[in-house]
Amino acid sequence: MQRDTNQYIYRQLYNHLKSDMLASKYESHEKLPSKRNMAKHMNVSVNSVKAAYEQLLAEGYIYTEERKGYFVEPLGKLIINLDAQNLRTSYESAAEINYDYSFSHMSTDISDFPIDIWTKLTKRVFQDYDHYLSSIPNVKGPIELRQSIAKLVSYQRGVQCHPEQIIIGSGTNTLLMKLIQLMSENVRIAVENPGYSRFRDILKQTHTQMAPISLDNKGISIEGIKNAQPDAIIVTPSHQFPMGTIMPVSRRISLLNWASKTQSYIIEDDYDSEFKYETDNIPSLFSFDKNERVIYLGTFSKTLMPALRMSYMILPTKLVEKFEAQNQNAIPDFSILNALTLNLLIKDGYYEKHLKKMHQIYGKKRAYLIEQLEMIFGENIDIKDTQAGLHFIIEVVSPYSYEEIESRAKEYKLELYTINRFNVTALQNNSERKILIIGFSKIEQQQIPDAVQRLKKVINATSGTI
Ligand SMILES: Cc1ncc(COP(=O)(O)O)c(C=O)c1O
Repeated sequence: MQRDTNQYIYRQLYNHLKSDMLASKYESHEKLPSKRNMAKHMNVSVNSVKAAYEQLLAEGYIYTEERKGYFVEPLGKLIINLDAQNLRTSYESAAEINYDYSFSHMSTDISDFPIDIWTKLTKRVFQDYDHYLSSIPNVKGPIELRQSIAKLVSYQRGVQCHPEQIIIGSGTNTLLMKLIQLMSENVRIAVENPGYSRFRDILKQTHTQMAPISLDNKGISIEGIKNAQPDAIIVTPSHQFPMGTIMPVSRRISLLNWASKTQSYIIEDDYDSEFKYETDNIPSLFSFDKNERVIYLGTFSKTLMPALRMSYMILPTKLVEKFEAQNQNAIPDFSILNALTLNLLIKDGYYEKHLKKMHQIYGKKRAYLIEQLEMIFGENIDIKDTQAGLHFIIEVVSPYSYEEIESRAKEYKLELYTINRFNVTALQNNSERKILIIGFSKIEQQQIPDAVQRLKKVINATSGTI
């Protein structure tokens, strides 16, 4: 046995004996030397041998017989597949890009997150809700949070529901997966195109039939839906993702009528409806529905932060029963500690206060960004300025393809997404007009002029009028 000064002697002896046993150097049921003899033979203390034997015994390499000593267990031979020898042995983590400025639509500004209040409320959860923290919780989430959300969506989104219709989840994606499990086996789901690519990924992963439907100036095309004949559709009526259209009431009524005639479901992804600038909140599609055809998806990723992983869905009553039956033995996939803290944040009025503050901050950033884009790009930009959410769309003239724009943005350390990411099939690059998604939540106010200058360099919009 080779000595290693960094390892306990007993551990070295244990490893040595273990590898000899695995290499079949010992016969099955062979008697091991007594502790004293082994100690002498290996030039180690009896205590070290004792500890090594105890460990081998605990792991099942050896067994004892009273007053007879230690024997080798028949171990069998581990089959090693030759193919497995060539498997990847090292992994490289994807390199993190350090952007100087971000136009990401996914991020939120967390510099004003009420950290002290959150921490204080978390402590309160430990004091007042220990019964929740120390037992297996309800799969739908703590009833207190579901009651708070029911009140919140009632006055913010016009949604009238019972707290039992609400299911908390660790993200809109995981909730969509649960929803698919509630539907019949060969369900066909239509999605907006362009639309949220992560939903399309979920449909692929769950082998769900997907029908991409194009948009017109009112949102998802009714003709397209009728042709595709899906069982359900996923839509973003309050602020189409990514194009920004607010679905007018006429299209909402047509959608609801289609759903009740065909007994299909509409999954309403209301991801950023809390933010409206210069208009009042637009009521949700769920609030128009009189026939239990709408499933509502809401999230705290935009109003608080994406890392919280707190989202929820509101099911029609018929699906609640099915969900409960299907999930009798399931346990929640989100942090109950965070869920209860979030409940206190809402209940004690801090959430509402934070929302108001962020509304102002985002409103200012948005206005300043639009002003700078207009000033720096002049006639070379068309800003599709919907007064909602945390991003808008711009059209610019650029000699570069979408792929080139994306890689140039990385070179210039600018986080930027183009419409290409959200289209089902990559767009042809034969038009000089390029559509970009401009998120304004993460960028700091004072960075805006410089970031816009850099954007201009990335797309090289020196000529061409929109
Ligand atoms: C279109 C869309 N839907 C939903 C979400 C929310 O996802 P989650 O609740 O999983 O964070 C986002 C987040 O950015 C989004 O862009």
